[in-house]
Amino acid sequence: MTKSMASYAVFGNPVEHSKSPDIHHQFAEQTQQTMRYQKQLVAVDGFEMAAQKFFDQGGSGLNITVPFKLDAYHFAAQLTERATTAGAVNTLIKKDDIIIGDNTDGCGLLRDIRDNLQWPLAQQNILILGAGGAVQGILAPLLAAKPQSITIANRTLKKAQTLVEQFQPLADTVSLSCLDYAALDGQYTLIINGTSASLAGQLPAVNSLIYHQAYCYDMMYSQGATAFLQQANEYGAQATADGLGMLVEQAAESFYQWRKLRPTTESVIASIRDAM
Ligand code: ATR
Repeated sequence: MTKSMASYAVFGNPVEHSKSPDIHHQFAEQTQQTMRYQKQLVAVDGFEMAAQKFFDQGGSGLNITVPFKLDAYHFAAQLTERATTAGAVNTLIKKDDIIIGDNTDGCGLLRDIRDNLQWPLAQQNILILGAGGAVQGILAPLLAAKPQSITIANRTLKKAQTLVEQFQPLADTVSLSCLDYAALDGQYTLIINGTSASLAGQLPAVNSLIYHQAYCYDMMYSQGATAFLQQANEYGAQATADGLGMLVEQAAESFYQWRKLRPTTESVIASIRDAM
């Protein structure tokens, strides 16, 4: 590794199909940064050793994807507030020889929904499907956007209840609660699918009424519409979007944290979509 060229990478397993190198190469070109960005397949039990080696060899920053976001959380010497709240780290930043853990996922989702799609958030009734790590990462920024209410629904209700308890102190005027899938009706204006069910082409077992005139966002993305978005379109959604914009926006925020330059994302989202 040459000293003059800053080096970044994404660690994951699997990582073969990661779009992060393509996204960051486009950001670097756009902002005229000379930097390297590679993907690295890391053994499931080998995160700490691989990350230590990367930084010992002069690496400047990492993106972390499945299944290492918790390993990265424990690896970081310091955590940003949003990483602490998310309970996971997707970005490591080397600053003055200290490794800082950050989480840019929630910020990425907010930028996509609010700035790119321009969907309303304030005073809206938001339904979130799922209560795993992905949902924990988006709750704080969603609460900060001051919707009227956030309802979390999950197959395992206990996990939704735990999130409600954990995030209640940040809710302020927002009504934060949870429900069984079976109890959902059509009162939501924005529905975010944060389950990993789409990955297997599956859907949470919800009443199709919920989609009517709602804005529907799937945190997952695929070449065609995900199962969730197909369903949403079929049952009269107001508008639909998948998580490709969130992917590019979380990358842009990581890039900003590393390089202190904010790339524009519109052309990058379009080019990644075209390449799919
Ligand atoms: P992630 O980090 O992607 O959030 P996770 O923490 O394992 O992964 O959470 C996966 C989420 O998808 C959970 O909310 C899970 O529901 P359970 O908590 O009941 O397991 C949800 N999920 C996964 N497959 C699902 C399916 N086929 N139907 C409904 N929910 C599903």
